[in-house]
Amino acid sequence: MKGVILGGGLGTRLLPMTKVTNKHLLPVFDRPMIYYPIQCLLNAGIRDILIVTGGNNAGDFLQLLGNGSEFGLKELHYTYQEGGNAGIADALRLAEDFADGEKVVVVLGDNIIEKNIRKAVADFFTQPRGAKILLKEVPDPKRFGVPEIDGKKILSIEEKPEHPKSRYAVIGIYMYDAQVFDIVKTLKPSDRGELEITDVNNVYIQKGQMTYEILDGWWTDAGTIESLFRASQMIAQTGANKLEE
Ligand code: DAU
Repeated sequence: MKGVILGGGLGTRLLPMTKVTNKHLLPVFDRPMIYYPIQCLLNAGIRDILIVTGGNNAGDFLQLLGNGSEFGLKELHYTYQEGGNAGIADALRLAEDFADGEKVVVVLGDNIIEKNIRKAVADFFTQPRGAKILLKEVPDPKRFGVPEIDGKKILSIEEKPEHPKSRYAVIGIYMYDAQVFDIVKTLKPSDRGELEITDVNNVYIQKGQMTYEILDGWWTDAGTIESLFRASQMIAQTGANKLEE
């Protein structure tokens, strides 16, 4: 399985900090934000990694990460999302050649977890087809993709709903088979002008090919002033991407 980290977008919710740099290069506690999703994939045993960059100073990713030797890697792959904030699914589109027909684990560059996703990735490895998402109960579901759940089944996902149908957020770690690249090609921009990852997930749900697991340990994004601050606090208290269980 291959790993894709989405580090494009303009990070407008973190202005003025993102005026001259990419959001994922900002510090979260003791390291740049992008380190956390890389470690998340490595802890799941995924070493073939593409980073989709974008926006300002994307060249700084190369200067910071090089070929990934700091992480014990021989090489890292990079690509650049043109056109600013065209959406998460638009950024994922760029991974088609890299994936080359294999399953992919996609991690949003501003998502940080306390523990690890090894078991979920192993389960998805044996899943014959389709997709898997991870959910976490949150106090403020309106900020996220929110699933309507019926036992083991997800009925649908709504992006930032006014009236959430559950208390769960769809976290920014997604597992897809190769169908995802055909699905992305069928999407239309949403009201906020983006190709939405929630629309991709709803196609898999309609096909009856979506599974889910509840994430163990804390999860946060770091894309707003409050969540960036909270992420640093939580990492200071407990650490992130822990392997032991
Ligand atoms: O954090 C989880 C949430 O992420 C999910 O619950 C939502 O369903 C999903 O839509 C997303 O919501 P956000 O609105 O918070 O996503 P944001 O625009 O902050 O983008 C998250 C990451 O995706 C960002 O750190 C980099 C990448 N991205 C985003 C956009 C818009 C790109 O690579 N390119 C883009 O054009």
